Amino acid sequence: MCGIVGYTGKEQAYPILINGLKKLEYRGYDSAGIALEQENKIVVYKTKGKVSDLEEMLKGKNISSHTGIAHTRWATHGEPNSVNAHPHLSASGKIAIVHNGIIENYDVLKDTLIQDGIALKSETDTEILVNFIEKVKEETGKNLFEATQLALKRVIGAYAIVLMDIDMPGTLVVARKGSPLVIGLGRDGDYIVASDASPIIEKTKTVYYLDDDEVGILMPGEEMVITTLNNERINPKLTELDLTIEELEKGGFDYFMLKEIYEQPKSVYDSMRGRINTEQKIIRLGGIEPYENHILESDRMIIVGCGTSWHAGLVGEYLIEELARIPVEVEYGSEFRYRNPVIRPRDVVVGISQSGETADTLAALKLAKEKGALLLGICNVVGSSIARETHAGVYTHAGPEIGVASTKAFTAQVTVLLLMALRLGYLKGTIDRERYEKLLYELEKAPELIEKVLQTDLQVQQIARVYKNATNFLYLGRGVNFPVALEGALKLKEISYIHAEGYPAAEMKHGPIALIDENMPVLVIATKKGNYDKIVSNIREIKARKGKIIAIVTEGDKQVAELADHIIEIPEASEELSPLLATIPLQLLAYHIAVMLGRDVDKPRNLAKSVTVE
Ligand code: F6R
Repeated sequence: MCGIVGYTGKEQAYPILINGLKKLEYRGYDSAGIALEQENKIVVYKTKGKVSDLEEMLKGKNISSHTGIAHTRWATHGEPNSVNAHPHLSASGKIAIVHNGIIENYDVLKDTLIQDGIALKSETDTEILVNFIEKVKEETGKNLFEATQLALKRVIGAYAIVLMDIDMPGTLVVARKGSPLVIGLGRDGDYIVASDASPIIEKTKTVYYLDDDEVGILMPGEEMVITTLNNERINPKLTELDLTIEELEKGGFDYFMLKEIYEQPKSVYDSMRGRINTEQKIIRLGGIEPYENHILESDRMIIVGCGTSWHAGLVGEYLIEELARIPVEVEYGSEFRYRNPVIRPRDVVVGISQSGETADTLAALKLAKEKGALLLGICNVVGSSIARETHAGVYTHAGPEIGVASTKAFTAQVTVLLLMALRLGYLKGTIDRERYEKLLYELEKAPELIEKVLQTDLQVQQIARVYKNATNFLYLGRGVNFPVALEGALKLKEISYIHAEGYPAAEMKHGPIALIDENMPVLVIATKKGNYDKIVSNIREIKARKGKIIAIVTEGDKQVAELADHIIEIPEASEELSPLLATIPLQLLAYHIAVMLGRDVDKPRNLAKSVTVE
């Protein structure tokens, strides 16, 4: 949520900053802005809209500078206009800031500024923060770095900030609490900082992930200094990035989302890579191995997540209860953290998050930790806050997901959950050998099967053409495919803006059936395994009310094929594997409808990829 970049060094800052913003635009695209240090002053350019609008605005302007900061915004305080856009300058014009997060006690800080007669121009908490830092600097006579340490002790909220100050030319001051910030250490002694590693990778692979309550000062050619808010020096542990530039580009696809849908054979494979010993038929999840006994002896697992990751959690509930017979509850991070949940030391709490930065999931995990639970993480972004907060975990290794709508992260999460369920079931003896081996065999084949499902793309595109103007959609599934129905509906609504609901198919009779008429497309996941006969009955009920049926069926299915208006065949597989396959056509359907409606698929309105505010 909001992307920030900063650069200081020998090179021209502008191209690095603008390209960095383009890479971070998935985090928010309400407005964009840049501040450049130029001959004893800071010049700021900002505009409502996207990074391309900022680029347009800067054509012909003097953008020469070696130090600068930039921001792409997802609005929290104040409407998305150019006044509220970042960077913000302090009242004197000497200090500039970019900020990702929310300052919760902004009104208290604002009062102190108003008492000092400081006039604020924007409606943002960020402008208050930069002025508060300037006030502390002036009152204490400290430099920007020290004043930031002092000021932040009085700030409540979440932030990743980068500051520059005319009194400290060529210098960036950075700080973080709750929102991510990565510092790249260039070979020439230059520094590039950003909300994630994507703007950094072209310049350097050596990075430091700033931790909560740390402040840093970066001067080209000089050693980076990182301290606590109390000015205690920290010895930063550097990390080498395991990321390539190709992974961050569209690779010939029109949208990142489509590229990521098509990457799923590989990403599902990568999420299993090195974890299955095919000969011995053994699964090893190194990250959680030391905690396996604890998990097996636990009373229950509580999975927390938001959005698509919550849907993966629901699939996980089905898989872990079915195969490992451990009771599982699945919770929205936002609900769990605020309702005084019962958490016992013998509970295992699993946080699922693509970004590893989702504020509600993170807060739910911190709460569970305080109450003594063992925390496990299933994250995609290595070194993310959730990955670091948990005691142990399993990375999904799906590679960077840039499209705002989550696709390959979901299938990788489901793969990891299936590996986990199989491993625990195997250790516990709750799954017989034959079924275990069959599921393992099928899981290893999943990338091939997904490849096959992707061949339905053209057919899905034709179906999309028929229903692109529908105003409502219903998605139905049963058992492990109920969360897939939820996920399909979420994909459609978030990128096409068509209203869609997911339901357990049998629940239809308890209300939603009233919606069905000849204008209502109903997507039903009706694979052969699971409650096939029951779902066939549900399809008949829809048919009787003239609903239009799009059915995801097992290859060769005859019964549903006769009833449905359209069928999309997926290969035969055990029920436990079906979410990995049934999800793919639903992703494609949402994608094609959104493209046909002219939506900005990778940057749907009002959304941001990494939700670091609650
Ligand atoms: C939907 C989507 C969101 C995220 C949710 C959680 O396509 O992307 O619903 O799944 O914001 O994000 P993570 O997984 O990063 O915690």
